[in-house]
Order: sequence, then structure tokens, then C-alpha cells
Amino acid sequence: MPLIFERNDITRVECDAIVNAANSSLLGGGGVDGAIHRAAGKGLLEECRALGGCETGDAKATKGYAMPCKYIIHTVGPIWHGGGCGEEGLLTSCYRKSLELAASLGCESVAFPLISAGVYKYPKDKALEVAVNTISAFLEEHDMLVKMVLFDKRAVMLSQGLYDDLKQFIDDNYADEALRREAGRSAILNAPAAAFGAFALKKAKQAAPLYEEELELCDSSLDEALKYLDESFSQMLLRLIDERGMTDVQCYKKANVDRKLFSKIRSDVDYHPKKQTAVAFALALELDMPQTRELVSKAGYSLTHTNKFDIIIEYFITRGNYNVFEINEALFAFDQCLIG
Ligand code: APR
Repeated sequence: MPLIFERNDITRVECDAIVNAANSSLLGGGGVDGAIHRAAGKGLLEECRALGGCETGDAKATKGYAMPCKYIIHTVGPIWHGGGCGEEGLLTSCYRKSLELAASLGCESVAFPLISAGVYKYPKDKALEVAVNTISAFLEEHDMLVKMVLFDKRAVMLSQGLYDDLKQFIDDNYADEALRREAGRSAILNAPAAAFGAFALKKAKQAAPLYEEELELCDSSLDEALKYLDESFSQMLLRLIDERGMTDVQCYKKANVDRKLFSKIRSDVDYHPKKQTAVAFALALELDMPQTRELVSKAGYSLTHTNKFDIIIEYFITRGNYNVFEINEALFAFDQCLIG
């Protein structure tokens, strides 16, 4: 998972480089800056003095001193003046230059705070959007683990509309009666395709109200299902990548999965990834719900209405939103594990 969100104090995060939300003097301050200077110890201030300051949007590195990292990368975010003074470009530059500097220092992992979103008053949701867009663009061309370290839950500010709509969807679906529906559905969807016959299907329709498209799937793609009944997760994934004309790199980058894990899946036909990884690939391939359920079942899991993670995934897929980073923000906001 190359980009993850973590709720923590950044001075406690172990990475090759920790990024500091500094000011142009580089001589310390409050917030993250103060916390890092306190945790690193006095040697840091001496080295910062010798750097001679830093421009807004630029980044400079020092040693990590007593912090659990090799380097501290100091970057100066823009002060928010309403969005009309080039703030977005400067903030983008902070993330990009810090990442490029970390890569040039041979770092394999970097932790960021939400730059400018505190004292500098950059709206947290806009700051997070700039951060995620810039980091995910960098990760398309580089292999690195990047942690967005968020000091409080408020930092992941889903738009109020999305938050309310998602909460309503969860409330509507995350209920006991879903258990009954789910028992019926999984009995139908997981029964060997050969077991289906018109009679079985008729009985099944009475047993549990299925979404129409799932019933159509049962009806219309039985031959298809039979063809791939014994396909493993790895075989189905590689087949779908080919069928969509994607490259392996495009697929695992879009899934927020690292290269090493993908290589394991590709080379071991019987490899069973974690559920979050199987779901991430379904999103990268932009599968619909029945196809997603089928791919996830090949990894040994099912998507039900008995847990919020599954319902949130269903919410985004049924609305055609396959952006893994956006979905991770929603999962983080609802205290669910992330995908990738
Ligand atoms: N770990 C992780 N995140 C933190 C921590 C911490 N220990 N402390 C604060 N944060 C979060 C804040 O909640 C905010 O979301 O980091 C984000 C950035 O807040 P600031 O530290 O205030 O940084 P910024 O908004 O960029 O302002 C920089 O503040 O501290 C001074 O010297 C600094 O003048 C500079 C200005």
C-alpha cells in the first residue's frame, strides 16, 4: 500500500524521512515544527541555522537526530489567503519537492503532516486533496511508502454531503435484516454454478430478495461462470488485466498496491491476498458489484452487509467512483481499514 493514512503524532512515526511543516526561518515554531524540534533535540537547530532559511514551496533536509528517522525534510507551506494567491501551486510544490528530495537521499519511506492546515489556515479538505493528488501522481513513477500522518480525525474532512450520504447508506444497509438477505444471497452466489437450474433459481428467488442484476448474472453468465469456475484469484486478476488492455504496472499503481506484492500474486497461482488487496484490484479494474464479489470470493472472502468496510466499498462501486485514494479517505473517516 504505497499511500496510507495514519492517525498519529508524527514524531512517533518510523520512516526514512519525516517532513516538517516549517517556516521560512527554519528556526522552529509551534505545531509540527515545535514537536519535531523538541523530539529531535538541540543538534537540529544548529544544523537548521546553517541552512540559511527556506523559500515557501521549497524543501531542505537535515539529519534526523533523536527522531526515529534518517532525515528530517523541512518544507515551508503557503499561508492561506483565500486561494487566490497561488496557494495551491505552492502547496503542491512542498509535497513534490519533499518527495523528490527524499528520493534523491535514497529514502524508501516518507511521512508527511498535513502541511499548512494548522497555523497557516489552509482548509483541511483542500489541503488533503492537494496532498493526495500530488503524492499519488509521484507514486505513479516511483516506488516509495508514503504516510499521511493526521493528528486528528477532523483532518480527514469528507465533504459534509458525502459524509451524510455515506452514513445514510451504511445505516440503511448495516442492519439485521441484511443478515437474512445476505445468507440467502451468499447461498445463491456461492453455490457451484452447476447447481443452478431453473427450479433452484426459482426457489432461490423466493429465499432471499437479490438485486436484479445479481439474478441476471446468475441467469445470463452461467456459461461464463462455468468456464472460470476453477480459476484462482491470480489467474482471474491477470485475465481481467489483459481483457481491459491494462499493463500490470497501471493496475497495481491504481490499486495502491506495491510492486513486490503484485509480483507475489503474479508468480504464485494459489496466492490468497488480504481482502483489502483483493478489493483494491477490483476497484483498479473498475468491476461492477457482481464481478467484484466474484474476484473477492476467489481470494476466499465475501462482501456482505454485516460490516461497514463492505458497505462503503459497495457505495462507491454502485456510484461508479473507483478512486482508491478517495475511498481510503472515506474508510479512514469511518475508522475502517484501508484498501491497497
Ligand atoms: N503530528 C502530526 N500532525 C500534527 C502534529 C504532530 N505532532 N502537530 C500538529 N499537527 C497537524 C495540525 O493539526 C495540522 O493539521 O499538522 C498540520 C499542520 O499544522 P502546523 O504545524 O500548524 O503547520 P502549518 O499550518 O504548516 O503552519 C506552519 O506553524 O508551527 C508553525 O513554525 C511553524 O510558522 C510555521 C507554521
